[in-house]
Amino acid sequence: MKIATKLIHAGLKPDPSTGAIMTPIYQTSTYVQEAPGKHKGYEYARTQNPTRTALENALAAIENGRYGLCFASGSAATDAIIKLLNPGDEVIAANDMYGGTYRMFTKVFAKYGVKFHFINMQDAAAVAEYVNKNTRLVWTETPTNPMMNITDIEAVASICRKHDLLMCVDNTFASPYLQNPLDFGADIIIHSATKYLGGHSDVVHGCVIVNDKGLQEKLAFMQNSTGAVPGPQDCFLVLRGLKTLHLRMERHCANGAKIANWLRSNQKVDKVFWCGFTDHPNHDIAKKQMRDFGGMMSFTLKDDSMEAANRVLSGTRLFALAESLGGVESLIGHPASMTHASIPIEERLKTGLVNSLIRISVGIEDVDDLIDDLQKAIG
Ligand SMILES: Cc1ncc(COP(=O)(O)O)c(C=O)c1O
Repeated sequence: MKIATKLIHAGLKPDPSTGAIMTPIYQTSTYVQEAPGKHKGYEYARTQNPTRTALENALAAIENGRYGLCFASGSAATDAIIKLLNPGDEVIAANDMYGGTYRMFTKVFAKYGVKFHFINMQDAAAVAEYVNKNTRLVWTETPTNPMMNITDIEAVASICRKHDLLMCVDNTFASPYLQNPLDFGADIIIHSATKYLGGHSDVVHGCVIVNDKGLQEKLAFMQNSTGAVPGPQDCFLVLRGLKTLHLRMERHCANGAKIANWLRSNQKVDKVFWCGFTDHPNHDIAKKQMRDFGGMMSFTLKDDSMEAANRVLSGTRLFALAESLGGVESLIGHPASMTHASIPIEERLKTGLVNSLIRISVGIEDVDDLIDDLQKAIG
């Protein structure tokens, strides 16, 4: 099946008890057994829930993987993966990823003895320099949040294979419509399904997709043992969101391309970060591993001050000033004071995350109205 068909049909079958075409929300905490151990595959809802199972199967199919696992948030999915490690293990991670992931690595897991190296992953070869006998995992986001840098998944995956390391890709920004990291050799995909997968800014949810049965079993053990599972209503919302992912992404991409080019032509804008520009440093890699370039981008102002950024951030009417991304409506945010406030200033400046950097998640409204809105706010 091609992606549009998979998004609508994969993993789903009419409900066996009624024939309902849409997977019901199985709002139950437990399941009745005929005799001890004699049941229909469901015992307790932290461990399994039919709405969640349908979504897990759909997500696996959409990412060209064998197994999907759902979590209460993208952060809970990240947490479950890092808990596969032991004290003394080391992780090589991208130095400009989502601030909350950086915070979890440095403030939660470092104190349990896991060591993290944050490096610039735009050059895949740099990863090899940090590999030592304790390295277990390489973690990247591509495109990154918020600098829109691109990691060559295939090149990093081949380094990982050589050194027997796991490679995890946070695929939140691209979504499975634009990029399928398992196809390029990654071992683990995570998503904040709160974003494009849900797509309507009405659910917090996370997921992991893998091919390896052993990894699936370890992650399912963690999912059940530490219990950060989503409720069935939230699984239903993500299932519903998936069905229009392709249509939404097509419009996100088309609007994104027009807005990125318009921003570039604005006199008050300094730099625009969007991987669809042919002069983006890793545009060729983006072209190789992505189907299109998405609606996420960031830009700086020639007046690189908090005040100038604040004027733009408070001046839009359609672009809502809010954390998050990937919904049908356009959002605008200020990484330095919002999503990336937990990163020390000297670290964020190293990656180009300056005071005037503004991130936008271009929605699927009429693009002329969006440009008009930005024009009025930027001037
Ligand atoms: C790239 C990326 N990964 C992970 C997360 C965490 O996901 P959640 O907010 O669903 O916990 C986010 C949240 O913004 C994100 O942008």
